[in-house]
Amino acid sequence: MSTQELESIAQALVPAGKGILAADEGTATIKRRFDSINVESTEANRRVYREMLFTTPGTEEFISGIILFEETLRQSTEGGTPFPELLASKGIISGIKADTGPHDLAGFPGETVTEGLDGLRERLTEYRELGAKFGKWRAVINVGDGLPTQSGIDANAHALARYAAICQEVGLVPIVEPEVFMEGTHTIERCEEITEATLKRVYFELHAHRVVLEGTLLKPSMVLSGTDCPVQAGVQEVAEATVRCFRRAVPAAVPGVVFLSGGQSAKLATEHLNAMNAIGNCPWELSFSYGRALQGPTLEAWGGKSANAAKAQKIFYQRAKCNSAARYGKYTQQMEALAA
Ligand code: 13P
Repeated sequence: MSTQELESIAQALVPAGKGILAADEGTATIKRRFDSINVESTEANRRVYREMLFTTPGTEEFISGIILFEETLRQSTEGGTPFPELLASKGIISGIKADTGPHDLAGFPGETVTEGLDGLRERLTEYRELGAKFGKWRAVINVGDGLPTQSGIDANAHALARYAAICQEVGLVPIVEPEVFMEGTHTIERCEEITEATLKRVYFELHAHRVVLEGTLLKPSMVLSGTDCPVQAGVQEVAEATVRCFRRAVPAAVPGVVFLSGGQSAKLATEHLNAMNAIGNCPWELSFSYGRALQGPTLEAWGGKSANAAKAQKIFYQRAKCNSAARYGKYTQQMEALAA
């Protein structure tokens, strides 16, 4: 695939007013989500839940792409249409979780490195044949006493770059996801410092591995106060710190920054995105690739009951719509009232 084709896929994922749904929870994560609503995590239940999300009427107005877990990429609607085909018919681009998760980094207690490079070329080639057009690899940077270490950042940045290079070779747009974990007592200033150091290292490695930045997207965490920090930064402070940090560390050649929500409430994730877009004047699109912040309220409303599906879909549509408005810096509290 040519560089231009990769660029046009990357751009098609971040058009005005649209963002990405992350629905690529691995087996352990989706089990935790289903446990929270007392639904058994069977393959059949996961399929039903994801069909409900993907068939929500009108989501394509706000959702450009959906990241899938391998199991979902191979599943079909009840009527027998493979999910990637269903999504393509709505103009939604399918993506695939390419990593196999974080594992303890030997010699560095409290830190992890994301695995999945062995056999990646072959797996990605098959995913592309199944309809995936982009990939995602999540690296986790834990914050704590003496954490992260430079070695922890380096190992994760290196793996992200190797993944991204293989993705582009195979013809998939790599979404590069370095997540600075929000759990901890750290201040927003410390988060900004770590986020900047991580992003700079990630772009150093992407450059060293000859990754074409125009054909990538960045999926980062926002610059936030740690969840247990006694002083919590407000929405405007978060937006300003995040934009400042990214202007320093993310090359202008990257078409889009698509944030993860990382455990923020659905509403707060929307407010933060909105405030960043209201600041404006950034070289990249500022968009979303939320998992929990798009699915949380929907999952709760669904509760595993088909009788609740229509209501759950309305809630999903509304969340996507609020985040779409936040892409323009035009989200208002009144939009939430409409949702209720
Ligand atoms: P959250 O928005 O729930 O953090 O999920 C996004 C994601 O894809 C994590 O890898």
